[in-house]
Amino acid sequence: MTPLIAHPSPKFGGETDLPGDKSISHRALIFSALAEGTSKVTGLLVSDDVRATEEAVKAFGAHIERDTEGLLITGRDWESPSDPIDCGNSGTSARLLMGAAAGFEGLSARFIGDESLSSRPMGRVMTPLRRMGAVFTGDDTLPIDLVGAKLGGIDYASPVASAQVKSAILLAGLQTDAPVRVVEPHLSRDHTEVMLAQFGVDGAMDEVENGIAISLGDNRKLSATRIDVPGDPSSAAFAWAAGAMIPGASVTTRRVCVNATRTGFVEMLERMGAKVTLSNQTVLSGEPVADVTVAHDRLEPISLSAEEVPALIDEIPILACVAAMADGESVFEGIAELKVKESDRIGATAAGLIANGVTAAPGEDSLRIFGKGKVAGGRIISTRHDHRIAMAFLTLGLAAESAITVDNADPIATSFPDFTAIMRGLGGVITAR
Ligand code: S3P
Repeated sequence: MTPLIAHPSPKFGGETDLPGDKSISHRALIFSALAEGTSKVTGLLVSDDVRATEEAVKAFGAHIERDTEGLLITGRDWESPSDPIDCGNSGTSARLLMGAAAGFEGLSARFIGDESLSSRPMGRVMTPLRRMGAVFTGDDTLPIDLVGAKLGGIDYASPVASAQVKSAILLAGLQTDAPVRVVEPHLSRDHTEVMLAQFGVDGAMDEVENGIAISLGDNRKLSATRIDVPGDPSSAAFAWAAGAMIPGASVTTRRVCVNATRTGFVEMLERMGAKVTLSNQTVLSGEPVADVTVAHDRLEPISLSAEEVPALIDEIPILACVAAMADGESVFEGIAELKVKESDRIGATAAGLIANGVTAAPGEDSLRIFGKGKVAGGRIISTRHDHRIAMAFLTLGLAAESAITVDNADPIATSFPDFTAIMRGLGGVITAR
């Protein structure tokens, strides 16, 4: 356990690059490992979660080499790994890999993970995959054994707007010719759909009565390609938040993914009153990217509704911290999914805020924050082994009246190992205890 202390940092600001997007990095590895030919991936995120996916696809038989620019990945039909597939802390690895592997007849694999991942629900992907014909032994949680089987089609109405569920089904669907369609109540991040097109597979998206329908077209053969991974908006969020909260601050993050299914947080900052500017807009491997500047201004409270949640699902802890710096009551609704993330993020966020002098009311599906335009800070918070809780409260510590300590910064390595270095580079004062 490595505690860290974030101190008030009135000189925060500047420009920075960011490591690759985590969701796109997982998908680049999995798609390349399934594709015919050798794909090139640049800008891949180097983190524990992505390393888990890289080790997994190698264990399933993909060949990976490195050159000066990035990874060269040669795909093939997947085979049984000799050891269990260890997904560590990564829900994306577990759920997407289960879908991708499910249709390889004769393959068998055991999926395992750390304590946190082993308590998170996997039934949400096993239910639709079983309906397609996949064979799993295990209940809702890891460890789970998979035996690859001939798959049929599916028309699945997902009860949750989850890109992991949608992606598991679409990846499994690559191994069948039968119709495959997923309907989600609200559109979740669409990096799988974008990447399918990059690898030459067609699909369609339609608005339907009960949500958004995504279906696979007839051609399901992935052809090797090049993927350049843009910067991660979920990592940029911490720099943007500090830029919004600290008087006089202005922060620019270069070449960040601004896919509309991921920009909910920066849009909220703008709605709260921060000054947000996009420049150098372009498209990288099918994904819109831009340099994003966020500058401080007086912050107003906000309301967040269920349909707005998917586009900032991972940013709610840091959004709650920013809301604490606004003047008035902010209300987040439709956030029950936060209870099944790396920790119970409704509980962990509320506890961290309350410890630091903020009035907050957690509910089953909601969180209310009574902001006073400033946060006292001065206390230690429990990260509950959750990277985004650790980073959110270190960021709040930069803007609070007194330093905030997180009890354990180690989980930050799962998604953003450069967090401390990048925040320090922007003027954030973060020290060891
Ligand atoms: C992810 C989807 C989201 C998100 C996670 C990454 C992905 O989870 O929270 O960090 O890469 O597909 P859900 O789809 O389960 O909401």
